[in-house]
Amino acid sequence: MDNEKSPTTPVEPWHRSRMLMRNPVSLAGVALAIVSLANIFLFVLIDAIAVKASPYIGILAYMVSPAFLTFGLLLMLAGVLLERRKKVVSTEFYPRIDLNDRAQRSAVFSFVTFLVVFVMVSIAGSYKAYEFTESVSFCGQLCHTVMSPEYTAYQLSPHARVACAECHVGAGATWFVKSKLSGSRQVFAALFNTFPRPIPTPVHNLRPAQETCEQCHWPKKFYGGQLKVFTHYANDEKNTMRQIRMIIKTGGGDPATGAPEGIHWHMNIGNKIEYVAADEKRQIVSYIHVEDLQGRVTDYYAKDSTLSKDQIAKAPRHRMDCVDCHNRPTHIYVPPDQAVDQSLLARRLDVTLPFIKQEAVTVLTATYATTDAAMQGIASGVPSYYESKYPDVAKTKQLEIRNAVTEVQQIFKRTTFPEMKLNWQTHSNNLGHFYYNGCFRCHDGQHVSADGRVISKDCTQCHTLMSETEGTTSLAATAVPSFQHPVDLGDLTQVNCSDCHSGGSGP
Ligand code: HEC
Ligand code: HEC
Ligand code: HEC
Ligand code: HEC
Ligand code: HEC
Ligand code: HEC
Repeated sequence: MDNEKSPTTPVEPWHRSRMLMRNPVSLAGVALAIVSLANIFLFVLIDAIAVKASPYIGILAYMVSPAFLTFGLLLMLAGVLLERRKKVVSTEFYPRIDLNDRAQRSAVFSFVTFLVVFVMVSIAGSYKAYEFTESVSFCGQLCHTVMSPEYTAYQLSPHARVACAECHVGAGATWFVKSKLSGSRQVFAALFNTFPRPIPTPVHNLRPAQETCEQCHWPKKFYGGQLKVFTHYANDEKNTMRQIRMIIKTGGGDPATGAPEGIHWHMNIGNKIEYVAADEKRQIVSYIHVEDLQGRVTDYYAKDSTLSKDQIAKAPRHRMDCVDCHNRPTHIYVPPDQAVDQSLLARRLDVTLPFIKQEAVTVLTATYATTDAAMQGIASGVPSYYESKYPDVAKTKQLEIRNAVTEVQQIFKRTTFPEMKLNWQTHSNNLGHFYYNGCFRCHDGQHVSADGRVISKDCTQCHTLMSETEGTTSLAATAVPSFQHPVDLGDLTQVNCSDCHSGGSGP
């Protein structure tokens, strides 16, 4: 059929489409689009000029305003469609454009220019939005109460300069989409206050370490032995210092760079270690499967396992990687006991204050409903202890006591988050075995193979003691020193350090 002569087309097509824009819905859309566009420019300008822009600016500029802009444009379109439905009954679908007509030509050019500019602005905007959601301030500061424990601990860790996304997202599109999807769920949870307190560890959906940690850390590196000094202060009047110097046998996992031995022997280069845990947090290990360099297979079962062999055979196996030991590479919640030791060593706490070690840990581990309540509790607890027990000290060391209050308050803020129901006990740190079971999850002398091999708890397997001093007295007199526990516990391989050493008050 010949459209041009159709009697149902009362107006010229181009004229008609301009008329359509008169619909109030379209006009509202135009207005909204212009306002949002202006806002975007403003926010982007602030974001570019401000030295330390607030993370909220970013969310306004790159997420909220563009959403309004898009909504405005959709309204415009809806208005056009409505108008067209109402006034015109046409069999023609596309408007006719005649570029020889001056008015039509300039209308087309302005429309195309607008489109190009808009597309460019939105591309730039989306790119910034992408960059912004990757940034540390988006992850750590925006939802400040939600992420405050993780962010606080992160800022004081060796990875303080590594962006959250380097460990939590990594490279590649699929993980980007995956993490952004779960991320948007978290943004909603934060907005509607439905997030869990504390936030659970992502231990089951964390990306494999090969694709995150190993992008920066070369797994083949051979470390050999590393000297480490552990300093403790006792719960006595003098806060007696005890220092333990040990060579930690970190070793390496690749025969190309050194003997595959020591602690990094577990790395999945030469051999493969898989295990089955009986609990969500992977703290109770029921079964371990080892395939070594030569291809020899050994299966270890826990003597006291709560899972039957049948259940173990069906359970999903987890392949051991960096994060099974280094599960707290950056969110390190230092136990109060250790935090106070560090402050004493760094002289932020005065070691001449009697019983300061014990008193600091006592006020830190009391139960408080809020951080403010804790600040007050510490501010009154420490001075009143000295006023009642050591009135002279309370008078002569006023300054030291005041500084101690400030320091202990700082420690509290770094280790305990009542609002998020999180403290140093929430997430165990698997590196070592002192405050948490860590290595002793497997190295407890209780995991045996069919041919009688035992995963060893021998005190010299992982480290060599160099010296141990109490105050100024050396405790290691023998040629091959062994660790002297301050209280006689008999055979140390028969105990679990973390049964008594909880990181809070107590030993
Ligand atoms: C060096 C790597 C690394 C960086 C950088 C990092 N994280 Fe993590 N994060 C981890 C690991 C590993 C876990 C899981 C620990 C576990 O499974 O026990 C984790 C866990 C978490 C958790 C769950 C709660 C918890 O403590 O287990 C949150 C929330 C979190 N990270 C947020 C952040 C934020 C926000 C940033 C940036 C400010 C960040 N992370 C930077 C490695 C990292
Ligand atoms: C973007 C690079 C990057 C990523 C990803 C990364 N790290 Fe690191 N890591 C570093 C740097 C840089 C240091 C050294 C910091 C320093 O000593 O100044 C470091 C230090 C360390 C240390 C030594 C800590 C100490 O106490 O000195 C360990 C252990 C470690 N990383 C483990 C991990 C683990 C486990 C992961 C994965 C969850 C990881 N890293 C992911 C860059 C990275
Ligand atoms: C069996 C547990 C275990 C596994 C698995 C493991 N590590 Fe370690 N790693 C340790 C221990 C223990 C140390 C000694 C550090 C200490 O005592 O503070 C160490 C030391 C390190 C150090 C040196 C830290 C320093 O202070 O110099 C780095 C870096 C490191 N590991 C990275 C990794 C990476 C990357 C992976 C994965 C490819 C990995 N580790 C796998 C337990 C482990
Ligand atoms: C999931 C279980 C598991 C965990 C957790 C674990 N190990 Fe092991 N480890 C093993 C197994 C299995 C062996 C091999 C035992 C054998 O065949 O003698 C082993 C062997 C070792 C060896 C001897 C390696 C060699 O030179 O042959 C060292 C050292 C060691 N582990 C240190 C550690 C340290 C330190 C930690 C904690 C940071 C730790 N392990 C955590 C399972 C584990
Ligand atoms: C499976 C390996 C392994 C075995 C077995 C082991 N340790 Fe350790 N131990 C470690 C690691 C790793 C660290 C260092 C943790 C760290 O860097 O924070 C450590 C740290 C220590 C420390 C210093 C802790 C501190 O914070 O002061 C002492 C003391 C210690 N071990 C004593 C022992 C004794 C005693 C035994 C024997 C019952 C033993 N260890 C068995 C791996 C082991
Ligand atoms: C039966 C409980 C118990 C067990 C198990 C135990 N300890 Fe202790 N530990 C104590 C007591 C009590 C003290 C003395 C505390 C004091 O005087 O300040 C102490 C003190 C220490 C100290 C001196 C520093 C400090 O915090 O006062 C170190 C280091 C230590 N223990 C290491 C270990 C190691 C390593 C293990 C595991 C092999 C272990 N302990 C197991 C009860 C225990």
